Amino acid sequence: MTHSAAARQQRDQDAAAQSDADGRVRFFDYHPTIADVRTEVLRGLGESSKSLPPKLFYDQHGSRLFDAITQLPEYYPTRTEIEILREYGSEMADSLGRENVLIELGSGSSLKIQTLLAVLKPLVYVPVDISKEHLMASARALAERFPKLSIRAACADYSGPFKLPLDPAWPRLAAFFPGSSIGNFDPQDARHLLERVARLLGPGGKLLIGVDLRKDPAILNAAYNDSEGVTAAFNLNLLTRINRELGADFDLDAFEHRAYFDEDRSRIEMHLVSLSDQVVRVAGQAFTFRRGESIHTESSYKFSIAGFQELAHDAGFESEQVWTDARGLFSVHCLGVLS
Ligand code: AVI
Repeated sequence: MTHSAAARQQRDQDAAAQSDADGRVRFFDYHPTIADVRTEVLRGLGESSKSLPPKLFYDQHGSRLFDAITQLPEYYPTRTEIEILREYGSEMADSLGRENVLIELGSGSSLKIQTLLAVLKPLVYVPVDISKEHLMASARALAERFPKLSIRAACADYSGPFKLPLDPAWPRLAAFFPGSSIGNFDPQDARHLLERVARLLGPGGKLLIGVDLRKDPAILNAAYNDSEGVTAAFNLNLLTRINRELGADFDLDAFEHRAYFDEDRSRIEMHLVSLSDQVVRVAGQAFTFRRGESIHTESSYKFSIAGFQELAHDAGFESEQVWTDARGLFSVHCLGVLS
């Protein structure tokens, strides 16, 4: 067993270390280690087309910047999804079934779940997020707001195989995967992730998932190029994080944010573009950048309803219901695990 695998195993055993005063909120830390981050960064920068995984955006500052993005006038997905949840929350609860254990993937600041918790009244809520401080703060705030709810918060990277603090005795599981975070995965990875979720939920399990829809490229381009520059700061924060955690020497003034909608792939691509020929050192290794060369930091796929249903079906789900807003910007799907 490698050193990092042994360390990970030990950490998993110790994971259920923390719980808050009245025991209603328990934290389970399966957070990736610095060694994991280093491996992924060196791999991505070593490719002929450089890339970095978007999950690395979400350190503490990155999570705050993402929260700020969700408030921007140009960034329509969050407020549109909340509008759909508010309007159809009780129909969604009918589809998902009440008195479940509710898992939320990518819970972030847990804003959207509040609408659902009020109507679904789950017995246990299991928020899962890669950003530890954010997860802990929002779990505590939710416990205050919902005094009967038990919370098992798991800090984990769900982009690969992941484990959760679930009790085999729990009867029915439902999951919520909001924000169109599924769009941040390439199609094959999206399918694998949904397959893992289907296995986790088991027969009869339900998934409520937010999916951004394809639309006028002008709306999409504006959403990822906001006039206040918050998305640019979010993108560049990735380099700040790598400088801090891996002892790198990225010059933030020597890179700029670029985002555009690629119609053929139906995805927004975000990049950090090198403004000069330069060499950057990361964890003791040198990486050469030509002027104009970019690091691909994120894709955000935009779907048709039928296209998403096909992806879900390939992953072992059947589509049970779909809700959209009046302008057809965003969709929320209830999927059932195929038996
Ligand atoms: C989290 N995810 C769904 C966001 C998106 O729209 O793809 C991340 C984001 N990137 C730039 N702005 C927002």
